[in-house]
Amino acid sequence: GTTLGSAANRTGRYFGTAVSASKLSDSVYTGILTREFSMITPENEMKIDATEPNQNQFSYTGGDRIAAQAASQGARLRGHTLAWHGQQPGWMQSMEGTTLRQAILNHITQVVTHYRGKIYAWDVVNEAFADGGSGARRDSNLQRTGNDWIEAAFRAARAADPDAKLCYNDYNTDDWTQAKTQAVYRMVQDFRSRGVPIDCVGFQSHFNANSPVPPNYRTTLQNFADLGVDVQITELDIEGSGTTQASNFRTVTEACLAVARCAGITVWGIRDTDSWRSSGTPLLFDGNGQKKAAYTAVLDAL
Ligand code: XIL
Repeated sequence: GTTLGSAANRTGRYFGTAVSASKLSDSVYTGILTREFSMITPENEMKIDATEPNQNQFSYTGGDRIAAQAASQGARLRGHTLAWHGQQPGWMQSMEGTTLRQAILNHITQVVTHYRGKIYAWDVVNEAFADGGSGARRDSNLQRTGNDWIEAAFRAARAADPDAKLCYNDYNTDDWTQAKTQAVYRMVQDFRSRGVPIDCVGFQSHFNANSPVPPNYRTTLQNFADLGVDVQITELDIEGSGTTQASNFRTVTEACLAVARCAGITVWGIRDTDSWRSSGTPLLFDGNGQKKAAYTAVLDAL
């Protein structure tokens, strides 16, 4: 294969990117997107504040534009994200208790129903565990509705679209020795043992000097896969440049390829200038849309 998507496809995997609807009119951006990528994740357009800005008034304009782009280029679509403490609309931020529980389940049902049949995998719940050594759930208005909020979210999503894969997605869950990784693992193990509908675990994989690719990354992916779920690298970016950055991207790609149930890799943007990181060069294409050494390393490893 001479593109990321076609090379990944040789082993039955996908290669994806986050996309912003507002950039689809940029021909350099869309040129790279259609040439290289076989999976698309909306960077912000399917988040709660975008899809339900006022309670029970749903807005699908941005998400639908991205879904149409995916369909037009034959790429699949990852839905991101249904339940999260971040990017909640104001009306939800101030909600709590049973009112909030009802509102988030209604949100999930409505949004998943709207996109039913178009989504390869949904990030049903995003970032629900605390950082650090506690292994606890993250405190949030959703968590305060009761510890079972996550399984309730997965059951609502399954009921609304039985064909979409349902993922739990998080960051800092890459190092097998970390308490947060272990805590997510035990939740997935518990869900699998009790028949809570979960199909996949997403590893955001935002790496930098403070949070480098851990030496046991492949072990982590394999251990989760051994629970009977797919694993996906969902938001990959790696700070740095040159051969060091390229080698880190190669390591991540090889880790996915070494795990049979690693379904694919998604990078969190196309060009360095598209990155959510305000500074730095964490992606595969430079600001002019030229392939970087990191691109070549990934393509060679696929
Ligand atoms: C980021 C987007 O890239 C930004 O445009 C936005 O301002 C904030 O969110 N983890 C996630 C993503 O799950 O949704 C985040 O995306 C990056 C961290």
